[in-house]
Order: sequence, then C-alpha cells, then structure tokens
Amino acid sequence: MVERIQPGDVIRPGRPSTVGRYGPLARLNHWITAASLMLLAISGLALFTPALYFLTDLFGGGQNTRAFHPWIGVVLFVSFYVFFLQLWRANLPQRVDIVWLSRFRDLISGNEERLPELGKYNAGQKFIFWSMAGLILLLIATGIVVWDQYFGEYFSVPTKRVAILVHSISAVLAICVFILHVYAAIWTRGTLRAMTRGDVTAGWAWRHHRKWLRELNGRRKVGPAE
Ligand code: HEM
Repeated sequence: MVERIQPGDVIRPGRPSTVGRYGPLARLNHWITAASLMLLAISGLALFTPALYFLTDLFGGGQNTRAFHPWIGVVLFVSFYVFFLQLWRANLPQRVDIVWLSRFRDLISGNEERLPELGKYNAGQKFIFWSMAGLILLLIATGIVVWDQYFGEYFSVPTKRVAILVHSISAVLAICVFILHVYAAIWTRGTLRAMTRGDVTAGWAWRHHRKWLRELNGRRKVGPAE
C-alpha cells in the first residue's frame, strides 16, 4: 500500500534531543587510558623486534624507551582500573547478551530491529571491556616480573622467561582488541561523540540501547527522537 503524505506532515530540521552517556571525568579517564595504551603499543613493539627499533626515536632512543615503557604501563593500569570501577556493573553479562550474539548476522546485515532491546552495553562492548580488564592485569603482573630495575632480584630467570612470553602474547591480544574497539566505535555511526562530547542522540540510543533509553526516560513507552 502506498503511504499518503497528508497536509501538515513535515520533517522539522533542528537539534535532536540528546542523551548524556559519559561525564567529563569519565571521558578524560578514557582518553588517558587510550593514549597510554597507544604509547605502550608503540614503545613495546619497538622493544619487541629489531625491525621496529626505529620507533624508539619517538621516545628519545632505546634507553629512554626502556625506561618510559613500564611507567606508562603503570599509568594504563591505574587509569583503566579507575574507569573499570565506574563501568563494571553495566558490563555484567546477562541472558539477553546470548540472544543478541545468536542474532549477530542481523546486526551485520543492518536488521537491527530484529535484535533484542539492550541496556547500556551490548555483548561486543562487554567482551572488549572484560578482555581488556584481563589482559591489562596480565600485562602489569608479568611486566613487574620483568622490570629489572626495581624487581630484578625477586624473580628467577626461568620465571622471567615465562613472564616475558605471557607479556608479549597479552600485548598482541590487547592490540587486536584495541583495533576491534576502535573499528566498532567508528563503524557504529554516532558513537564517537559519546566519548568526545559526552552525549549521543536519542535516536542512536533508541536504535542501539533501547532498554537503557527506556530506563532513563523512566517509563515504558518512548518514541524515536530522530
Ligand atoms: C583511539 C582509541 C579509542 C577510541 C576512538 C575509543 C572510542 C570509544 C568510544 C566512542 C566509546 C563509547 C562507546 C559507547 O559508550 O557506546 C568508548 C568506550 C570505551 N572504551 Fe574506548 N576508545 C579508544 C581506546 C580505548 C582503549 C585503549 C581502551 C582500553 C584499554 C578503551 C576502553 C573503553 C571502554 C572500557 C569503554 C566503555 C565501554 C564498555 O565498558 O563496554 N578505549 N571508546
């Protein structure tokens, strides 16, 4: 049936209503975490293989890279876990996550209306959250074992060998998870502003995290704002 446009039907341009998602401190916390992980990836890769040793120039040479890398690791650990404490509850797994994952095909093919309504985070975001939490814990623990300047005498050489292997594997996995996170943030249009301006449009919230929007609105029925 052809839809009829009637007199008075009109699209009104203007600012859509928005929904706050992250306050300024949470955003600062996130970007310190992001910057430290990127610096760690660059300095770590520079120390990992001679092929990338030239990257040490960015940190003022090999000696400086070696000295800075573990301290940036401490910044990442503290910063991520301060962020973690603010978000862990909203990232707890729920039954709906399994339903959402089982219909992942619908998400990829753009049939998002067939997916269940979600709270603040989807299963993909939760996966990134918990895998970063685990990997950063492994990285700091194994990093301390191989931080000879302060802890050299506390661990045996065989322990350090295992630690550096686990450290390198965790770092590669963390870089993969990081790429996935940035890709998802760009791929899902309208998401980046959550971490730049701190808010999203109500239309974005309705489309991707409808249960969260409903809860925020405090009543069961909410119409799309876009
Ligand atoms: C250039 C790098 C990065 C970009 C562009 C970016 C972008 C974003 C965006 C847009 C969000 C908001 C998503 C939403 O609320 O729906 C977000 C959330 C988040 N980001 Fe990043 N991010 C970056 C790096 C990182 C790094 C390195 C980490 C961790 C080591 C990280 C951890 C998180 C976490 C934990 C959340 C909250 C989502 C959740 O708890 O599931 N981000 N990021």
